[in-house]
Amino acid sequence: MKFFLDTADLKEIKEAVSWGALAGVTTNPSLYARIGGTLADFPAHIDRICTLCKGPVSAEAVGTTRDEIIREGRELAAIASNVVVKIPVTVEGLAATRALADEGIRVNMTLCFSVPQALLAARSGARYVSPFVGRFDDISEDGLDQLSNIIVALNNYDFTQAGVNGENIEVIAASIRSTNHVTQAALLGADIATVPFNVLKKCVEHPLTNNGLASFNADWEKVRNA
Ligand code: E4P
Repeated sequence: MKFFLDTADLKEIKEAVSWGALAGVTTNPSLYARIGGTLADFPAHIDRICTLCKGPVSAEAVGTTRDEIIREGRELAAIASNVVVKIPVTVEGLAATRALADEGIRVNMTLCFSVPQALLAARSGARYVSPFVGRFDDISEDGLDQLSNIIVALNNYDFTQAGVNGENIEVIAASIRSTNHVTQAALLGADIATVPFNVLKKCVEHPLTNNGLASFNADWEKVRNA
C-alpha cells in the first residue's frame, strides 16, 4: 500500500516528502480553505504542491454540471503533468470523468460510499476511486466494512480497457482518522491510503520503539564510558 498525504499545507507536504516514503498528495476544497487559500492563488498553489511532490496530486473540480467539470478538469490538468482531477461521484461527475479519461486526463473519483458508486467510477474511466472510511464511522456505521466491499467488488473485474492508457483503477482509502484505519486498509488490500499529517506521524511512532531506543542509548553510554 502506498501513502498519500491528505492536505494542502506546503509545510506538511515538504516535511512528509523529506521522510522518503510519500507517493502522492490529495487535496479538497475544505483542506484548501483550512490553509487560508484564495481562489486566485489556487492554480499556483497546486503547482507548488506538484513541484514538492512528484507523485500524483489530486486537485478537486467544484463545478456542478459536466461541462463545468470538464472545463475545470482541463485547466487543472494543464497546471502540471502529475495533477489528477478529483471529481465527486455524481451523474455529472461520471459523465465528466468519461470525457476527461478519453482525453488522457487522470481522474480520482471522490466522496465514494458504496460498491455501485465505485463500479460506476471504474467504468467511467477513473484512475483512482476514494472510498471514505471515517465519515461512515462518524455516523456510527462501519467505514472499513464498506472499504472492504468496494475492494472485493473491484477486484472481481478488469477495468484496464475503461481507463487511461490501459491503467487499472486504484483504490485510495480516504477519510482516514487513525493508525488502525491505515492498518486495516492495508490488510484489506487498498492500493493507497491518503492520510492527514497527524496520522502519518503516528504511523511512524510506537512506544516500544521509543523504549528500545532509550535502552540502547543508555547501554551505549556505558560502552563509551567503559
Ligand atoms: C480524500 O481525498 C479526502 O480529501 C479526505 O480523505 C476527506 O477526509 P475527511 O472525511 O477527514 O474530511
